[in-house]
Amino acid sequence: MILVTGATGKIGSEAVRLLTEQNHPTRALVRAPSRMPGGEAWNGVEIAVGDFDRPDTLDAAMRGIHTVLLISPSVPGQEISVIDSAVRQGVEHVVKITNHKASEDSPVGRRRDHARIEAHLKATGLGYTLLAPNLLMQNLFAVATMIKQTQGFVMSAGDGRFGMVDSRDVSATAAAVAAAPSRHAGRVYLPTGPELVTYADVAKELAEALGHEVEYRRISPDEHRSAMIQAGIPEPAATSNAQVFGLIAGGDAAWLTDDVTSVTGNPPRSLRTFIADHVDAFA
Ligand SMILES: NC(=O)c1ccc[n+]([C@@H]2O[C@H](COP(=O)([O-])OP(=O)(O)OC[C@H]3O[C@@H](n4cnc5c(N)ncnc54)[C@H](OP(=O)(O)O)[C@@H]3O)[C@@H](O)[C@H]2O)c1
Repeated sequence: MILVTGATGKIGSEAVRLLTEQNHPTRALVRAPSRMPGGEAWNGVEIAVGDFDRPDTLDAAMRGIHTVLLISPSVPGQEISVIDSAVRQGVEHVVKITNHKASEDSPVGRRRDHARIEAHLKATGLGYTLLAPNLLMQNLFAVATMIKQTQGFVMSAGDGRFGMVDSRDVSATAAAVAAAPSRHAGRVYLPTGPELVTYADVAKELAEALGHEVEYRRISPDEHRSAMIQAGIPEPAATSNAQVFGLIAGGDAAWLTDDVTSVTGNPPRSLRTFIADHVDAFA
């Protein structure tokens, strides 16, 4: 049995759907059942209602589990609680979603957090696989309302290129690993899309799909941080996001791999395909 945490999120919800479709017994850790996808997407999924901040709920969710697909907003105390519960309950393998540039001395808080969690996971002696995707295409939903209202979006990544990946391909990679964990033990995969793009390319692709101009308004990371805080993003997340966009402007995310294809057997979706599939969200 596979337990997926962060199951109502971008990567987790599709991973749960794929694992179930492929007949792998799957349990989804869900904080609020109202956030579960409707329809038939999760037919046959076992649900464990639980919270990263309540270890008793994690222990209950972990019973009888062989492999955990660990996805969370990457708060170290929360992920470490999940890992410790996995150890208590005899889980054998953890597949962790992490960050490619995670390191203890990173200037970015979120990357230091991932490094701390990775070190804890490795120290437990559990089998593990790390999946560190490039920037998710689904992050664009965060600016969908701005695009609808202003025919443009603000971003502080300059003309930096990135190997943007559709989170559905990250889910497929994670599901393939979780379904055959011993084959992937100790490995690190870096899922990316098929091409390097810039936010100017994103604006151009959106404009073509929407049939009107979409303006990419370049702002500085400091301006972006303030705008995100004003929009209600918690200060630490806004700070990390702005730092990351500044790094992307300098080429930090300009990397591609063929890990999606090599793990899943299918090529990753392009930005054009992502936009075609979700054009209504931006119209
Ligand atoms: N976005 C990117 O470009 C990117 C790139 C590389 C790596 N990553 C990594 O990807 C991970 C995030 O994955 P994602 O984008 O799929 O996540 P997401 O869409 O932000 O979803 C977060 C999930 O965590 C759940 N959650 C939050 N607090 C919880 C709690 N206290 N107890 C139980 N569940 C809780 C949420 O449940 P609710 O639905 O109840 O809120 C949701 O299912 C992070 O580690 C991030 O660093 C992201």
